[in-house]
Amino acid sequence: MPGVGKLDGKVAIVTGASSGIGAATARMLAEEGARVIGGARRVDRVTTEVALELDVTDPASCEAFVAAAGPCNILVNGAGLGLGRDPFVESTEEDERRVFETNVNGLVRMTRLVLQKSMQEPGHIVNLGSIAGRWAYPNGATYVTSKFAVRGFTRALREDLLGQDIRVTTVDSGLVETEFSVVRFRGDVEKAKSVYAGTRPLSADDVADAIMYAVTRPEHVVVDEMVLMSIDQSSGARIHRRES
Ligand SMILES: NC(=O)c1ccc[n+]([C@@H]2O[C@H](COP(=O)([O-])OP(=O)(O)OC[C@H]3O[C@@H](n4cnc5c(N)ncnc54)[C@H](OP(=O)(O)O)[C@@H]3O)[C@@H](O)[C@H]2O)c1
Repeated sequence: MPGVGKLDGKVAIVTGASSGIGAATARMLAEEGARVIGGARRVDRVTTEVALELDVTDPASCEAFVAAAGPCNILVNGAGLGLGRDPFVESTEEDERRVFETNVNGLVRMTRLVLQKSMQEPGHIVNLGSIAGRWAYPNGATYVTSKFAVRGFTRALREDLLGQDIRVTTVDSGLVETEFSVVRFRGDVEKAKSVYAGTRPLSADDVADAIMYAVTRPEHVVVDEMVLMSIDQSSGARIHRRES
């Protein structure tokens, strides 16, 4: 209903809005009154008020997206992926490039462009980190590295934006059941399902709800870092599974 949301009058950009956490966050931001501009490569799957094609690994695509989106108050950096769960010695140049280009360079690039061209104060940047950016786990070195980088970038950004009314938050989740594992296992749905077998993962809505908490605090309150896990997970590598 117009006129009653906590984010009435705000404009939010959400990357990775075609699926999972980004899509859930975009929906909740709109429910709270924000005008949401969603971006992803599969733009046909983006259901936000304005849906624009975006490939965060492509500087020209990012520039065109930010120019078309115009002024905004909130940027949610939701685009991201992992590729494979193998010992690092089996890693490939191609996979490493894709993961770093998406999770690190893409996120940094979008943040820079939005700050330079369209962020209005009071503003807020929310990065989707991961508990993989806090604890390394086996057979995920490239993804772990990318998420440690996101955490470092978030901390550095907080320092550089001190004195401006622009909040920065990282939301670091454990297992969330989205398309993430299907992408990670290159379309192998059965293998993706096994990641969540016997355990209760978070849902995309659980993470979006945490993001909503951060963006709806009073404007002087920064929710700096959030770590979110299912009751069945205690760290990056420890997951409780029930017998089926
Ligand atoms: N699921 C988990 O267990 C988990 C846990 C902690 C953190 N995270 C993080 O949460 C974020 C969202 O993941 P998710 O779980 O929601 O996965 P998801 O369901 O696979 O969604 C990923 C989103 O990223 C977008 N994306 C990927 N590459 C892109 C690119 N080059 N340009 C633009 N958009 C791109 C995808 O859209 P298109 O393919 O349409 O472009 C999709 O909308 C990621 O950063 C992930 O690392 C996930």
